[in-house]
This record gives sequence, C-alpha cells and structure tokens, in this order.
Amino acid sequence: MSLNRRNFDALIIGAGGAGLNAAIQLANADLRVAVVSKVFPTRSHTVAAQGGVNAALANVLPDNWHWHMFDTVKGSDYLGDQDAIEFMCREAIPTVYELEHNGVPFSRLDNGKIYQRPFGGQSQNFGGDQAARTCAAADRTGHAILHTLYQQNLRAKTHFFDEFFALDLVRDAEGVVCGALVLEIETGEPLLIEAKCTLLATGGCGQVFRTTSNAHINTGDGMAMALRAGVPLMDMEFYQFHPTGIAGKGMLITEGVRGEGGYLLNGRGERFMERYAPKAKDLASRDVVARSIVTEVKEGRGAGPKGDHVLLKLDHLGESVIAKRLPGIRESARIFAGVDPVVEPIPVFPTAHYVMGGIPTDRFGRVVMPVGSGEEAMPGLYAAGECACASVHGANRLGGNSLLDILVFGRLAGKNIIDYVKDNPFHRDIDPSSLDYAVGRLKRWDQHGKGPSVHETREKLTRCMEDHAGVFRTEEIMAEGLEKMKEIRAEMPDVRLTDHSRVFNTARIEALELENLLDVGMALAASALYRQESRGAHSRPDYPKRDDVNWLKHTLYFLEGDRLDYKPVRTKPLTVESFPPKERVY
Ligand code: FUM
Repeated sequence: MSLNRRNFDALIIGAGGAGLNAAIQLANADLRVAVVSKVFPTRSHTVAAQGGVNAALANVLPDNWHWHMFDTVKGSDYLGDQDAIEFMCREAIPTVYELEHNGVPFSRLDNGKIYQRPFGGQSQNFGGDQAARTCAAADRTGHAILHTLYQQNLRAKTHFFDEFFALDLVRDAEGVVCGALVLEIETGEPLLIEAKCTLLATGGCGQVFRTTSNAHINTGDGMAMALRAGVPLMDMEFYQFHPTGIAGKGMLITEGVRGEGGYLLNGRGERFMERYAPKAKDLASRDVVARSIVTEVKEGRGAGPKGDHVLLKLDHLGESVIAKRLPGIRESARIFAGVDPVVEPIPVFPTAHYVMGGIPTDRFGRVVMPVGSGEEAMPGLYAAGECACASVHGANRLGGNSLLDILVFGRLAGKNIIDYVKDNPFHRDIDPSSLDYAVGRLKRWDQHGKGPSVHETREKLTRCMEDHAGVFRTEEIMAEGLEKMKEIRAEMPDVRLTDHSRVFNTARIEALELENLLDVGMALAASALYRQESRGAHSRPDYPKRDDVNWLKHTLYFLEGDRLDYKPVRTKPLTVESFPPKERVY
C-alpha cells in the first residue's frame, strides 16, 4: 500500500493542555512540530476542566509548595513518587505565572492578584487549617487555559493536523518509535507521520465507564497505543470517581462549589460528611467523599424518589456569588438536572472522572520500561498528561492537581524533547512490519458479514466496568468483571461495521476507539483484581485496610498474556525529607 508521508522533528498526539504546552516549547525553539488531534484542538477535554489549577501562590491564605507537597503525598495514600511530587509542587508556581504572562484570563482578587479557592485535601502547615490553593478562572479554568495555549501555538507556527485519528505508533527494527500512522477523518485516508521523537498526550479513558464526566473523545487512545507497542500501563486500578457528577448523567459539578461554601445533604437533610471527615467535612479528599456518598445511598439515606443520590446545596451562597464564581455549573445544572442551584440543590452522585495510572514516565516525560530491577527510558517516546503516569497522584488525585500535572509535565517533556532531537537529529528507517500492523488494524474494519455491532459491544463493556470496577470492589465482583471482559475480547474479531464508507465515517472511528477501550479496560480490571488492599480510590471491603508491607508498590500491566508486574514507589523526594506513610484522616 502506498502511503502519504510527512515528516517532522517532533510529533505530538493530542491537543489538550499537555500536548499544547509541550508544542509551544518546541515551536518556540524552531523545531518542526506536528500536533495531531482527533477533534479541533480547542475541543480537547482540557476545555471542560472547571475548578482550577493548584499552585501555592499564597494569594488568599498563607501557603508554600512544601505544604502542597505534603497534601499531595497524603492524598495519594502514599503511593505517589515523592521526587516527582516535590518537582510538580515547586514547578506549580512558575507554571501558573507563565500561563498568566501568556494571557490566561484568571479571576482576580480586589488587589489584582490571581483568585484562589479552597479545594479538597488542601491544608496549611502539614495537615492544619484549610488552604486556598486553586487558581481559577470562574468555573471555566480549562477553557481559559486551553484557548490561550492554542493561540500561543498558532503564533509560534505549530503545525496542526485537526481531525486526524492516531492509529498506532510505528517503530524501527530495534523497536525505537519513529512516528505514527494516523487517519484523516475527513477523507478516510491514512497518513504516515515520521518524527524523531513522539509525545503521547491523548488524555484519559473515562469512556470505559458508562457514567462519566469525560468527553466522548476520552477513549484511552494513547494508553492503548502504548500497550500495543509493548509498554506496560502502571497503577491502572486507581480510577477516581468525582463525588459530584449530576446524578444519573455524570456531567461534572466542580468541587469549586464546595470550595465556595456549598455542602452535601442526604435524603434526611443531614450534612453527612461531618460523620465521615469531622475536620475537612465536604472538603475531604475525593476518594473519601465519593465513598461516603455511596455509603449513604447504600444504607438507605439517599435522596429523591429512588433514594439513589445525594444533594449539593449552594443556594445560600447567593445569586451574585454563583454568577461570579460558578456560572458554568448553574448552566449545567439547569440543562442536565433541570434545577436552578440559586434556589434548589443539585442531585449528585459519584461519576467516573480521572485515571491516576497510565503510561509510566520519569519526571522528564520519558516513557520508561522495566529492565532488570530498574528501568530505562525508551528512546524517542514521551508521554504527558492524563494518559501518562509520572506518579504524582498515586492512589488518589487531589482536585486541581490535574491541570497542574498536564501543564508542568507537558512543558517539561517539550523542553526535554528539544535536547533529545539535538542528540538524535536523523529520522530512522521504519520497520515495514510495524507499519503493516498499523495498516492491518485499519483494514480489519473493512470486513463484511454479520456479527455484534460496535455499539452493542461498547455498551456491554462500559456496563461491565461500571458494575465490576466501581467505587467499592470485592474479589468476587472483580473476578466476574474480568471474566466478562475476556469474553468481550474473545468476541471482538466477530464485531462488524455496516458502514464501510471512507469520507467522515465516524462509525469507523468509534470501532477503533472500541479496541482502545477494550485494551485499557482489561488493564484496569486485571490490575484491580490483583491489588489485595484498600488504598486511595481502590476500595475493597474484603481487604479494608491499606497494606504497606505487601502493597506499597506500583502495578504494571502488559498486554501480552495479561501479565502483571510491580515496581517500587520512590519515597525519597529531591531535596526535603520523605513523608512516611501514616493513617489518612481528614
Ligand atoms: O471539580 C473540579 O473542578 C475538577 C477538578 C479536577 O479534577 O482537578
């Protein structure tokens, strides 16, 4: 098959905050950089981030990066790598100022400084009073950031391939990644993009669950591409359920509501978080709040005719505060829940929100592979953002640390790629078998005949994940889920498309996404079954305690043979003392 080809110094797959912050570094250094995105860049999921980005600016209350680091390590249930966490918390401050200088329209305090709101799990002085660390642009912070980054990239002359779907990484005979085969959605034609270095920045995989805050595009594409290239996924059992999704629908209602003074009520009108987290209450960390809500509902104290949700009350904040600080959630609540939060509470329930695990990287964004008892960076392959796991969130991410992660590690990956390309100035010869594999994945969907549809298979998969990998998980539930996932995998070769047209065939894209969801869902289900403890977002009533003796380690899932392996947690920070594991109370 003759293929159209383009070549660049660097290829970035994904145009959210991580991809665009990396691209700016490269374009500003006069490298030829291509950004491939399956949607128009400003529709990337970063645009939906509401509450804000954490940085210890101390604009509202006293703060410093070391307190931020403590909260993040504790929030991670001690599974986060402390060197990476220290790095992220220190870098947060210049990163936010750089955004400000690039034009992000943050909300302002009366003194002109960036507005900061309290978020869950934040404290002053290593576990003391509530901190206010989340820099916000009302409740549309991701929108403000993504649009600014896109405009800066246009100015820097980054080359965008809009509405191109990445199929697979391509490699040379030694396995070094040398670009990717992508599909132009408009024409249905494949395009080979050769690059000296490739960065995966494709975001999360929330669509693996039936109810999620994630956009339809979050189908784990980069994670699945990495798996198929032999890279393991790390810590995939740790999936965060955001406490306040719109009940039954899943759209996000920002934690910023509780940061501004909103609170949760059960069906009896009780502020139940006082029982679960006496000090932090509604601003305990997300795993704690999500479990508390599910427990209230399970024990019969839910709200509504079916008792299947709780209520988020914010009318007491007043219409002007809601208009100034939370205009987007008022609109979402009106449209998706049919309530106006100025006068009545919003029905909420936990919704699949964020994957803490992902493609293992070091803190320079380099993808790392286990070698003997250590690990080595893979030449030519980087990852950043939600698809990556530099291990700054461990078993549970704090709100506001996601935008931070994508911006810090996207930026740093970009800077490191500049050096990598200087040291590796030539394109490599692509191994034809790696290209054939990628082309084969595309051609497979040209098969005619009868079989289950993509839609029904996806429905089965997302229902399975919701039923078997939710907030509370037991051996029995997860083992059954893994078996069901294996059955779905066995059926996949029979799944058929009925529409084989080329031009803007979104059904074909959904079929390719389904394959990605399956690979990522398998990683999640298999890793979850193996971890026999409760830690962060992985909560097992049959192993209710955290087990630091046996499980203070990261899991690694390999696609081949569904193999699982482990690697140690890096408990030594860069310049300060370690925070040793402690019981986590809020
Ligand atoms: O609640 C929120 O605004 C979400 C923020 C986050 O996931 O970091």
